[in-house]
Amino acid sequence: MTFSAATARAGPPLTLRVHGDRLVTIDQARLPFEVIELGLRDASDCAHAIVTMQVRGAPLIGAVAGFGLALALRAAADDTALDAALERLAATRPTAVNLRWALERVRARVRPLPVDARAAAAWDEAVAIADEDVAINAAIGVHGAALLRGVAARRAAAGRPVDAAAPLQVLTHCNAGRLATVAHGTALAPIYALHAAGVPLHVWVDETRPRNQGASLTAWELADAGVPCTVIADNAGGLLMREGRVDAVIVGCDRVARNGDVANKIGTYLKALAARDSGVPFWVACPTPTVDRSLADGAAIPIEYRDPREVTHALGRGADGTPAELRLVPDGVAALNPAFDVTPARLVDALITEHGPCAASETGLGTLPPFAACG
Ligand code: MRU
Repeated sequence: MTFSAATARAGPPLTLRVHGDRLVTIDQARLPFEVIELGLRDASDCAHAIVTMQVRGAPLIGAVAGFGLALALRAAADDTALDAALERLAATRPTAVNLRWALERVRARVRPLPVDARAAAAWDEAVAIADEDVAINAAIGVHGAALLRGVAARRAAAGRPVDAAAPLQVLTHCNAGRLATVAHGTALAPIYALHAAGVPLHVWVDETRPRNQGASLTAWELADAGVPCTVIADNAGGLLMREGRVDAVIVGCDRVARNGDVANKIGTYLKALAARDSGVPFWVACPTPTVDRSLADGAAIPIEYRDPREVTHALGRGADGTPAELRLVPDGVAALNPAFDVTPARLVDALITEHGPCAASETGLGTLPPFAACG
């Protein structure tokens, strides 16, 4: 079992671990300035961590929610308590479908059981979800790395071989790395796979305003893994693509509709437009639990709107390391803060799933083996 503490030491770094009767993760609200472990002991802790984005990223919030429901059932596990705990956890964030998918999966497992057997079974199911996330992301890494090797081969054929002086250049948006998952990441999994294989590469990291998941989280975990990277302002990617300085764009996703439309962090759509206009491949790392077959297209994907203060203010640390909040916008001026956008399927060159790449379309998704996706 890849997720269990016994094998964790030999495997990839885990963002979520079980330690005794609690979950242990990294408090992502404190990164990159402090690496602080966060213990989650009950369902309220799990819900609070998701709402405050101490844990974030679609697969990770799914896994934490699954454990949260299991922990809730230790207190009360009759049908009323089960449904109430599920809805409380489901209400924490709206866009990433992995959250409800994991909760529904735990509920389906325990509902037929006697009340006194439910908490233990729910815990086992949450462990299975976490284990599967590790395996899914490792497989996405293999398939995505094969796509990137294809780009490297085309570069070599065009007389621009990939080497230490001219590494493969990948651009990513937000954080779809190990911090957003139980392990490996999704969009960063192919990068880690190639880096481990000794392929020279460099990552352009979009800062990802307003919460700066790229600058704070992706840059932190790539640096931690020794992968060369450079943080760029969100608006810089288009220029770099026009100048031929980006070989591929890989992003994650929070929900993929039946037709292949992709909801991901705000700004993803603009990167997809720039990539298409510049002839740069735009790939979406897509674990199948993130596919919502109940939605015909992206128009129905719920978009989270967050506190405008995230736009009007920037959070950081002063020179002395003290947390600081800076106001950026004139007093009295309104701000709007949609946290996700939808990239139309036609701009997506491939969805990289754990089963391999597929077209971002109903037909493409239909080529995948049957899976327990939401809906
Ligand atoms: O608001 P966040 O930080 O939870 O948003 C995260 C993203 O948009 C990621 O790209 C997505 O969840 C995929 S994570 C593998």
